[in-house]
Amino acid sequence: MGKEKVKRMAGELLIEHLSKSFMTADKQALSVLEDINLSVENGEFVAIVGHSGCGKSTLLKIIAGLEDADAGTVSIGGRILTGPGPDRGMIFQEHRLLPWLTIEQNVTLGFEGNTRKENFEISDRYLKLVKLEGFAKAYPAELSGGMSQRAAIARALATDPQMLLLDEPFGALDALTKIEMQKEIIKIRRENRSTMLMVTHDIEEAVYLADRVVVMTSRPGKVKDIVKIELAEPRNRGSADFAWYKQRILVHFFDDDEEKIPEFTI
Ligand SMILES: Nc1ncnc2c1ncn2[C@@H]1O[C@H](COP(=O)(O)OP(=O)(O)O)[C@@H](O)[C@H]1O
Ligand SMILES: [Mg+2]
Repeated sequence: MGKEKVKRMAGELLIEHLSKSFMTADKQALSVLEDINLSVENGEFVAIVGHSGCGKSTLLKIIAGLEDADAGTVSIGGRILTGPGPDRGMIFQEHRLLPWLTIEQNVTLGFEGNTRKENFEISDRYLKLVKLEGFAKAYPAELSGGMSQRAAIARALATDPQMLLLDEPFGALDALTKIEMQKEIIKIRRENRSTMLMVTHDIEEAVYLADRVVVMTSRPGKVKDIVKIELAEPRNRGSADFAWYKQRILVHFFDDDEEKIPEFTI
């Protein structure tokens, strides 16, 4: 328990003056992220929304250590990150489970040094958390889209990362499964107390889940606005306050006079 506490205090994520370009096929530099500055508190849930191609995945990959920045730094608790680490787990839109391994083997991938009993216990614990108990011996092909994504979440959680980086994790799911998964994420967060950074193109999802929503500009991606969601939990998607926040964010994606933020305040 003591060890757990220390780990959960790993500290704030700080992104400072982060920029990134890619070289295109015709040798042009494509500026993708420009001077991104963002801090995420320990245990906070931050959602990132922005047009397709504005650099959201690139930003998460840089934080995960899977991609290098051209300029700027990413640090956690004052320690500058230089590559991937067990403190950060990433979940992608597609589940990326290995089809030739069982769900249990997928979840415990990377724990080769463990005994079978240890791995069984890890897999059992996290599959229960994502409501997949009973599917440890199944193969990914036997699971629905929602179940596979749950397994991918279990796999990311099994390494007990302090921070989860979620890149449109429910983007490929049907609307009802997605709502189920969002509730699941809230439960997991309550239990695990991890920091969560989620890219989503679903503004309702962002308002439902996040403490703050970061709105990015079109490429090159910059931070355009940060909206603090001050709604009590559990959040009610049908409430006027909820609609106000949705509109408050959506307005960034409209032309000037198209749709205004409703007048009422909360
Ligand atoms: N490895 C890469 N090489 C070249 N261009 C890339 C690479 N990764 C992403 N890009 C380009 O960078 C831009 C941002 O990509 P991405 O971060 O995936 O955007 P988003 O997730 O916001 O849709 C896109 O124009 C994409 O084509
Ligand atoms: Mg993306």
